[in-house]
Amino acid sequence: MRITIVGTGYVGLVTGAGFAEFGHDVTCVDVDAKRVEMLNRYEMPFHEPGLHELVRRNAMHGRLSFKTNLREAVIGSLAVFIAVGTPSGEDGSADLKYVIDAARDIGRAIDGYCVIATKSTVPVGTADKVRAAVAAETKHPFAVASNPEFLKEGDAVNDFLKPARVIVGADDQRAIDLLRDLYRGIMRTTDRIQVMSIRSAELTKYAANAMLATRISFMNELAAVCEVVGADIESIRKGIGSDPRIGPKFLFAGAGYGGSCFGKDLRALAHLGKELDVPLQVVNAVDRANERQKRLLGERVTKHFGGRLDGKRVGIWGLAFKPETDDIREAPALTLIEQLLAVGAQIVGYDPVAGPNIKALLGDRIEVAPDPYTAAQGADALVLVTEWHELRQPDLARLAVAMRTKVLVDGRNVWPRDEALAAGFAYYGIGRPDPGR
Ligand SMILES: NC(=O)c1ccc[n+]([C@@H]2O[C@H](COP(=O)([O-])OP(=O)(O)OC[C@H]3O[C@@H](n4cnc5c(N)ncnc54)[C@H](O)[C@@H]3O)[C@@H](O)[C@H]2O)c1
Repeated sequence: MRITIVGTGYVGLVTGAGFAEFGHDVTCVDVDAKRVEMLNRYEMPFHEPGLHELVRRNAMHGRLSFKTNLREAVIGSLAVFIAVGTPSGEDGSADLKYVIDAARDIGRAIDGYCVIATKSTVPVGTADKVRAAVAAETKHPFAVASNPEFLKEGDAVNDFLKPARVIVGADDQRAIDLLRDLYRGIMRTTDRIQVMSIRSAELTKYAANAMLATRISFMNELAAVCEVVGADIESIRKGIGSDPRIGPKFLFAGAGYGGSCFGKDLRALAHLGKELDVPLQVVNAVDRANERQKRLLGERVTKHFGGRLDGKRVGIWGLAFKPETDDIREAPALTLIEQLLAVGAQIVGYDPVAGPNIKALLGDRIEVAPDPYTAAQGADALVLVTEWHELRQPDLARLAVAMRTKVLVDGRNVWPRDEALAAGFAYYGIGRPDPGR
């Protein structure tokens, strides 16, 4: 089936390459000409495991192409997916400017019946706005649908090719049949398509992110209790995670969540509640708790050194908002860096892939080291922010020689605390008592 994807960010590019892998004829469109040029050379605009190979293979087989000209792409397409950004507006609402611009462009370009499906995360009621924007530009028949995306950066290709479910919000049977047909490639084992109303589909995406974020903030708050009462959040995590009603995922206390979605989507959901006069107290609290949590690592380092860090060097391991991505949007490392710079510290960061993005954002305000042990060289403290596999088991003997002061702040509770203490390091985790207590 011939389809168009509008936007070649994490969602658009993975979706386009994924549908091409199922054998569809896919054109991806972006307003960013430089990005389109890169993609036409099979160069990736961001790091996502497995995506490069998927794009290259499908493009070489002629099933996947990239353009800036939306009209050329849309002509003859039976489905057009909107996968552009929906950033936070000043009041926390989702800014729909890019979605509506894309809808207007699509309206001008369609030349026969097609389904216009929104993959971007958008507030309830957006499909009506998309429908109105398209209808204002065309006389051709079309249907709108909501097809929110649930992929995780770092594992996005797998998530697209083997999704837990595909949510289709639509009220037009022809659109439902067409979308089912498009996703047939993933339905070999079970029918993972859930059809619902458009509004339910739009809200399902926010509900999923809000639920995941709630689990994280809940555990972070309990970790604070653990520190006061001398309990260990790791024991509690295992204790509750083994209950099948709760399950083990998203229960890790840590440095707070980051990324382009959780914060933005919680703020948008909270804004929707306000607009509707439906109090969403849990959602508001989750985001507030996370903002507090993101400052915890910085407070820990600052407190250890008595408030000021002039002349102190702090190494940071992990800069991306989570492992396996180079995305630094709303990353906890950014909060930590700003906190430490404000009290006079010198920062040396290391990340397997996000270094160039941090450098582009912060320039000479921090150093970026080529490997983890260079980042630790001469450091007065070393902080783990992102638990990349290669950073989970530090060589403590090597760190003891490299560092000026032996202070470890483990923002993910993955470093070997007892060994670190035995080797003479000061060790700070999250929600873990001092074993001497
Ligand atoms: N990143 C994720 O993990 C993720 C997961 C699920 C859902 N989402 C949602 O999907 C949407 C996209 O997220 P993303 O991370 O892929 O965004 P992104 O910022 O990485 O990419 C958006 C792309 O859209 C392009 N664009 C903007 N306006 C355009 C237009 N009119 N025509 C063509 N291209 C246009 C931009 O140039 C950019 O390349 C957001 O609503 C987000 O909340 C993101």
